[in-house]
Amino acid sequence: MANAARPNHIRIEPVTGALGAMVEGVDLAQPLDRDTFSDIKTAFQDHLVVFFRDQVLTPEQHLALARQFGELHIHPTTASKPGYPEILEVIKEANEKENWGDGWHSDLPFLASPPAGSFLLAREVPPFGGDTQFANMYIAYEALSDEMKRIVDPLKCLHLQNPIGYRPGKNRSMRFLEAEPTEAIHPLVRIHPVTGKKALFPARKGLGRIQSMKAAESEAILDFVRVHAENSDFACRFRWEKNSLAFWDNHATQHRVTADYFFDYRGYEPHRRHMDRVTIA
Ligand code: SIN
Repeated sequence: MANAARPNHIRIEPVTGALGAMVEGVDLAQPLDRDTFSDIKTAFQDHLVVFFRDQVLTPEQHLALARQFGELHIHPTTASKPGYPEILEVIKEANEKENWGDGWHSDLPFLASPPAGSFLLAREVPPFGGDTQFANMYIAYEALSDEMKRIVDPLKCLHLQNPIGYRPGKNRSMRFLEAEPTEAIHPLVRIHPVTGKKALFPARKGLGRIQSMKAAESEAILDFVRVHAENSDFACRFRWEKNSLAFWDNHATQHRVTADYFFDYRGYEPHRRHMDRVTIA
């Protein structure tokens, strides 16, 4: 779809009707001019996750790109790229059997103020698989019946830090910091700080519960909300290439990386996957 106001400038093509857009015709290694910045920001607000191909960025350019959209955030529990405290390396070594981030989640829900978004840059990707899926939590909320909205609207959810992610032996290539476990309480239906729209924000399975409810009641409601939010009608899926970049809205979406490129019994060679993530507060 050409940009009507500025033809021959950047092109924005939706990925699905739910969310996601491919953005073409921009070099993210350069500082963005006012029009390009504004077009990307509008695409980000409209589509919640925007994807770019062929972005050859140094770590410094990756950081400079993110800084144009917000203050940088440092991951509180995972060691950063050596020499770059604001870059998180999301790595699965060829011999490892689990991705980091393979369940549906939004980032850092156990913080009092979860970050606004992330810029994930593909440094090394498997020849197939390892796609990242994103889902639109505004439409997941809107698709509920009015009666169910009345039930979930006032509920508050406790979110716990993921101890499984920090288990010795899992994702050995990622180094986890010794940090006090953190937890936070957030509305199950969060109000987006910029748009004011309502978005579902369930705790991950085993990592939280609804406040003021019996355990069985909380589990039943959260199980329902999670399964509902994971409906593929609310989602899109991005196939990575080296130097692809995704920029997502962490307050309006969930994401997960697919664990589909290291099945021993399919007889494929083991593959490494390495992404660099810069997050804005
Ligand atoms: C993440 O959850 O931030 C990582 C997603 C991915 O590696 O695709």
